[in-house]
Amino acid sequence: MDIRNVLVAGAGQMGSGIAQVAAQAGLEVLLYDIAEEFTQRGLSGIRKNLARSVEKGRLTQAEMDEVLGRIRTSTDLDQAAACDMAIEAVTENLQVKLDLFRRLDEILPAHAILASNTSSLPITQLAAVTGRPEQVIGMHFMNPVPVMKLVEVIRGLATADAVYEAVKTLAERMGKTTVEVRDFPGFVSNRVLMPMINEAIYCVYEGVASVEDVDQVMKLGMNHPMGPLTLADFIGLDTCLAILEVLYEGFGDPKYRPCPLLRQYVQAGWLGKKTGRGFYQYT
Ligand code: CAA
Repeated sequence: MDIRNVLVAGAGQMGSGIAQVAAQAGLEVLLYDIAEEFTQRGLSGIRKNLARSVEKGRLTQAEMDEVLGRIRTSTDLDQAAACDMAIEAVTENLQVKLDLFRRLDEILPAHAILASNTSSLPITQLAAVTGRPEQVIGMHFMNPVPVMKLVEVIRGLATADAVYEAVKTLAERMGKTTVEVRDFPGFVSNRVLMPMINEAIYCVYEGVASVEDVDQVMKLGMNHPMGPLTLADFIGLDTCLAILEVLYEGFGDPKYRPCPLLRQYVQAGWLGKKTGRGFYQYT
């Protein structure tokens, strides 16, 4: 399977990071979002990251220009008619993703692979709304995409071996290490990470320790690069809640019950770094 042209759907934090590493791997990238404001914001983030790499001597200016030259942006999904693959990285909302997969199935050529960067929604369900379930797969990058080495490759119930191999090879071309994961709620990364974050929030909720001290325990005590509450703010508290809901509902086990404090922060619009306030203030 020769993958040269890739559509990245969604130009947010994850989508723009994926577009960057794909272009750096030599792929032609079409970065799509519903408004030009979003594609331009994504592109300027990519420019900033690449410029930092030039400053640090990891990339020449000419290489940076070449990488940027391989990224086109669009708000018209029909432009993806020549793409060999789509990597979907839109909001973590099942309905939005299902609608998008239906459209991608109509627009992209028959040979194209449809991948989702979902952090916990079922790949099998996304595959079932397309006419090509064997070509649908999960490709779960970690945030920040240009820095983090891991990609979870999630096989839906119908995913073909050849598609799995092609996506694994593609992720390796992007400089990533892959793990093979079956399609169950939260995959591995979030099934392990989110209960830790939730438990950290419970520690604050129950007054066991302050936000700063909970983070300090995990940073200095367990050598995590970020404390769990800083990390939750970084991921987005709405995303954390959405993933916990998927775990809770998917397994029906009370151990995944989202902390009421997390729910309240999300209701308040305190979504973390992106809104300027979460467990910490960002001004
Ligand atoms: N985009 C690109 N590069 C970035 C970046 C970003 N958003 N943020 C940091 N970097 C780069 C910096 O430029 C720097 O590179 P150089 O050394 O070449 O300058 C490098 O990363 C280190 O950055 P800093 O020195 O500023 O800060 P740091 O040492 O604290 O590292 C971090 C930052 C890499 C984010 C680190 O704190 C870390 O690893 N945190 C944990 C991240 C994590 O757990 N991610 C997974 C989240 S879960 C997820 O994504 C899955 C999900 O489904 C929710």
